[in-house]
Amino acid sequence: LIYLDGNSLGPPLIGVADRVGQIMSEWQNDLIRGWWDRDWLGLPRSIGSRLEPIVGAEPGSVICADSTTVALFKLVEVACDLIDGDLLTDSGNFPTDLYVLNSVARRRQRRLRMVEPEAVVESIDESVGLVVLTQVDFRTGRLHDLATITARAHSFGARVVWDLSHSAGVMPIELARHGVDLAVGCGYKYLNGGPGAPGYAYVSPALIGQVVNPINGWFSHRDPFAFSLEYVPAPGIERMQVGTPPVLSLVAMEAALEVWPDVDLGEVRSKSVGLTSLFIDLVGAKLGIEVLTPVDPNLRGGQVSLRLARAGALIETLATKGVVGDFRPPDVARFGFSPLYIGFVDVWEAARRIEECLSA
Ligand SMILES: Cc1ncc(COP(=O)(O)O)c(C=O)c1O
Repeated sequence: LIYLDGNSLGPPLIGVADRVGQIMSEWQNDLIRGWWDRDWLGLPRSIGSRLEPIVGAEPGSVICADSTTVALFKLVEVACDLIDGDLLTDSGNFPTDLYVLNSVARRRQRRLRMVEPEAVVESIDESVGLVVLTQVDFRTGRLHDLATITARAHSFGARVVWDLSHSAGVMPIELARHGVDLAVGCGYKYLNGGPGAPGYAYVSPALIGQVVNPINGWFSHRDPFAFSLEYVPAPGIERMQVGTPPVLSLVAMEAALEVWPDVDLGEVRSKSVGLTSLFIDLVGAKLGIEVLTPVDPNLRGGQVSLRLARAGALIETLATKGVVGDFRPPDVARFGFSPLYIGFVDVWEAARRIEECLSA
């Protein structure tokens, strides 16, 4: 099987099944003591600290909690508390991000402006308070320039929220270096955390003392087990939690992240560029299929999207030939190349089977 859908749901890495088996016996033997004796309570932060080097974040700035959508809602609300002005996003953003932005804008009576991806930079002006973008477009694979956009937003006094769902784990990201304010990302794509793995939230250490979680859940409290009637937020990034951490999912995510300390993200990016360049060459140039993804490697992430009328049928037939990609209606066939487990031979073979399907 050639699995080119790791940008949608990453496969389980070696060791994850064992760890998930182990948590079952811990649960059975330790019962409620597991929260403390096994430090289940600490998982959102211990996983956050494994994520920090992957996204180039400062120690203590990332928490693994809630779905990406919920994390985004919390951070957009937080940002709206900090600053007035319009919300700016682009039409390439993922629908859940757009729905969340619409709902926050409506509830807060803010103007939401949605522009074409190419127009983002020039659209940031003094009217904008918050820029919310996904770094790599889920449909086209186009990559936004995080450094330039963040710097331009800051030059107008605006804040930024980046969604890293399609970039974390496939390229270096330097949140701290570029002074990013807030970011979220998904655990189950290139990070292989498992179906429905929790997402994560980053809050710049410079802001954490000023932000108020819009959902004052007990896990955002300084001492949840004091059961105090008075709400006092946790001092650090823990204040972005809401309720009880989903331990079974978190344990899978934690095990999946064990591989990363041995991985050089610069090497990951150069292999990713090599894989996508080869695919673009074989399928675009040689087979003549329209490539929706930018051909310039500096402008794309780790996926390649093809536009063709029979995209849905192609993806279905390819699956019967052992190549898994996915279909995004109406006419996009999407292929994700996760450098940790996809090789150049896979790319070559996938292109050959695509040719076979199209000539049948
Ligand atoms: C860019 C982006 N943001 C958010 C999400 C949604 O994440 P979740 O289901 O964890 O809320 C997705 C899902 O594919 C996504 O691609």
